[in-house]
Amino acid sequence: MFDRPATGENAILVQLDFGEDDFAERLEEFRLLVTSAGARPLGVVSGRRSAPDSATFAGKGKVVEIADAARLHEADLVVFNHELAPGQQRNLEKALERRVVDRSSLILDIFALRARSHEGRLQVELAQLQHLATRLVRGWTHLERQKGGIGLRGPGEKQLETDRRLLGKRVAVLKDRLKQLARQRAVRRRARVRGEVLAVSLVGYTNAGKSTLFNALTKAGVYAADQLFATLDTTSRRVFVEGAGQIVVSDTVGFIRDLPHALVAAFRATLEETAHADLLLHVVDSASADRDQQMAAVAAVLEEIGAGAVPQLVVWNKIDATGVEPGVEHDDCGNIARVRLSARTGAGLDLLRDALAAAAREHACQARLASA
Ligand code: GTP
Repeated sequence: MFDRPATGENAILVQLDFGEDDFAERLEEFRLLVTSAGARPLGVVSGRRSAPDSATFAGKGKVVEIADAARLHEADLVVFNHELAPGQQRNLEKALERRVVDRSSLILDIFALRARSHEGRLQVELAQLQHLATRLVRGWTHLERQKGGIGLRGPGEKQLETDRRLLGKRVAVLKDRLKQLARQRAVRRRARVRGEVLAVSLVGYTNAGKSTLFNALTKAGVYAADQLFATLDTTSRRVFVEGAGQIVVSDTVGFIRDLPHALVAAFRATLEETAHADLLLHVVDSASADRDQQMAAVAAVLEEIGAGAVPQLVVWNKIDATGVEPGVEHDDCGNIARVRLSARTGAGLDLLRDALAAAAREHACQARLASA
């Protein structure tokens, strides 16, 4: 989701080069992240370093360069595409006389903007509090906080002025509520298993086109009314697939490389849905120059949440942008491994529906055998 209007915060972006080979793609993604958080990226400061400076991450000379760029562009904040230790962040804010936001805060902020469901909001709040607990900086005035902006927004912000003891209590309450919600989710999941319904989760790198595909899939078929699933998470829908009956399709949060750990932990319950799916549709932006690294990042997150062994079907999306024909590719055992399609134009969507129908029939057959 990158269509959020800018709120007008001017930002200087800092991305240092530690010798990774995908520097340009990371920078492009970083820009997109900053824009989707509602800020205006006005300048970029980069440079090579062999290792981060322990006091300021960027090093003395670089900090001067960042300060010059910030003054020149009248920037409100400086965003680092790196993880900053609390001390480094404090030192940088002092030297730059501006708010400094690190990659984790940036991603948490976007999640705060995007979280829609009750559970999603609780999860983001928990992740924000855990991240902020170590870096409660009191330097920014109440007024500035009320104005909002990256790192100063979202449900976690309410807690900033409270002391750590209250913060700890709130964390405990949130964890408790999330545990309850996870239990309810497990009950629903068991009901679905009994119903022999194929559970499909969409996974993929942020911006791969999951939501577009989700909408295309759920709109195109004849599907049961939404209110039937009022108790399901808002991002799960029953879809009728010709020749196979109903399946449940869930959209999940977008993955990203170096996903903040607090976020993975907080979203574990939601992501567990993925680990318990019968089939994962791994949506790939085939038009991206960075697609191999993105696929690897998704595989790493799936591994981390215990979903590494769930059967996967790769959806090679956005073929309208590359000119590749719609089609299906099989693995060595003859199973469908990859479907080439465009979620936007709908080309190849019928091939995916056929593949889902085959998977649903196979699943129902296995479930009947197991209960016989
Ligand atoms: P996150 O919410 O960040 O996880 O993204 P997502 O994976 O849900 O992607 P989304 O569906 O929001 O699509 C991201 C962008 O890709 C949007 O601008 C879509 O219009 C575009 N997009 C999606 N599918 C296609 C496609 O088949 N072709 C082209 N050209 N663009 C597409």
